[in-house]
Amino acid sequence: MTHSTMTTSLRWLAAAAALAAGATLAADAPATVQLAGRAVPEIDKLPPGHYKELVQYGHELTTRTFAHIGPEVGDVRRRLAGNNLACASCHQQAATKPFAMPWTGVAATFPQYRGREDEVSTVEERVNGCMERSMNGKPLPLDSREMKAFVTYIAFLSKGIPVGANVEGAGMVQSKMPNRRANLEAGAKVYEAKCAVCHGSDGQGVRAGQPGDAQGYVFPPLWGKDTFNNGAGMNRLAMATRFVKHNMPQGASFDAPQLTDDEAYDVSAFMLSKPRPEKANLEADFPARWNKPVDSAFPPYMLGAPADQHRYGPLPPLAEKQRQMAEQIKAQAAAERAKAQGAAR
Ligand code: HEC
Ligand code: HEC
Repeated sequence: MTHSTMTTSLRWLAAAAALAAGATLAADAPATVQLAGRAVPEIDKLPPGHYKELVQYGHELTTRTFAHIGPEVGDVRRRLAGNNLACASCHQQAATKPFAMPWTGVAATFPQYRGREDEVSTVEERVNGCMERSMNGKPLPLDSREMKAFVTYIAFLSKGIPVGANVEGAGMVQSKMPNRRANLEAGAKVYEAKCAVCHGSDGQGVRAGQPGDAQGYVFPPLWGKDTFNNGAGMNRLAMATRFVKHNMPQGASFDAPQLTDDEAYDVSAFMLSKPRPEKANLEADFPARWNKPVDSAFPPYMLGAPADQHRYGPLPPLAEKQRQMAEQIKAQAAAERAKAQGAAR
């Protein structure tokens, strides 16, 4: 019996004994929290004071990022975001919508190991990950009121969710990718039929006011200068496909998608085939190369596949190659450890 199966069966025995004794289930089993249908915490119900003010500011920064730290705000020193998006352009409904990367529960899942840095990262680092990529900007100083406000808002949304809980509705729906290269012509047609009405045939969206007035967008741009950069999570084909499938056109949700898997895949590839800002020093991402997601479409590539395949698929064969490579690396490391132990004896 392996160590882990042994502890599992011991846990079951303990749980059974507790049940027999009329007690409730063992407290160490990870709780599962369902975001769908769960009430969103209400800021208005907080008692007046510093805490409420900071939560309110965090909410405001999330939905109107452009008006506070965007590239068009009056005070040049506050221009930390490089585009006029809002965090809520992607983290919809002020970052509470299930399967649109909600922040509900995020306070309970960080600090967390992240492959992009091959390090354990904190909520603050994660916020700055989106500042430098999704918002094409600069990191927020850790002691700034803005960083405090984001972290406090995230913690407020996460209230009542225990550390280590399994949050259903977190991230995105992990749908399977079609096993083929994406079809850009088909994607262009889907775009005209289902996206252009809001985001524009030219992908530039619709501004709320005039360029320069820091009022952001009614419909955000999908490519061009004022968008997420090429190092962003949304710039990965599988990530964009999953987001679009369950969240676009606006009004779609995980339980009421409006596109087929093929439509979401092709239209996302079409969107990502367009120009966008480029992040400097991307080659420093994923220092542990075997961790690099197969749809990260920037060099260096290490699976021996053409760059085009990382950008447009087919992705499943790349995932399989990567799995084999990770196994080889693990086996090698184990062999080296065994050798070193032998030498030490
Ligand atoms: C262009 C879309 C986009 C925008 C705009 C955006 N993000 Fe994100 N964000 C993502 C994606 C995609 C992920 C998850 C994928 C990943 O891990 O890279 C994510 C993940 C996160 C997470 C971790 C969520 C989790 O479940 O672990 C936090 C926190 C976060 N973003 C904060 C922010 C903040 C703060 C802003 C605004 C300053 C912002 N994001 C703007 C796309 C965006
Ligand atoms: C009815 C209007 C509407 C339609 C149609 C629509 N969107 Fe959106 N889209 C929005 C709005 C509004 C947002 C900002 C998030 C929000 O407020 O819900 C958004 C956000 C996005 C984002 C993330 C933010 C950004 O700027 O990158 C992407 C990606 C996106 N849409 C892709 C698409 C694609 C692809 C289609 C077509 C399949 C589509 N959208 C159709 C209104 C629309």
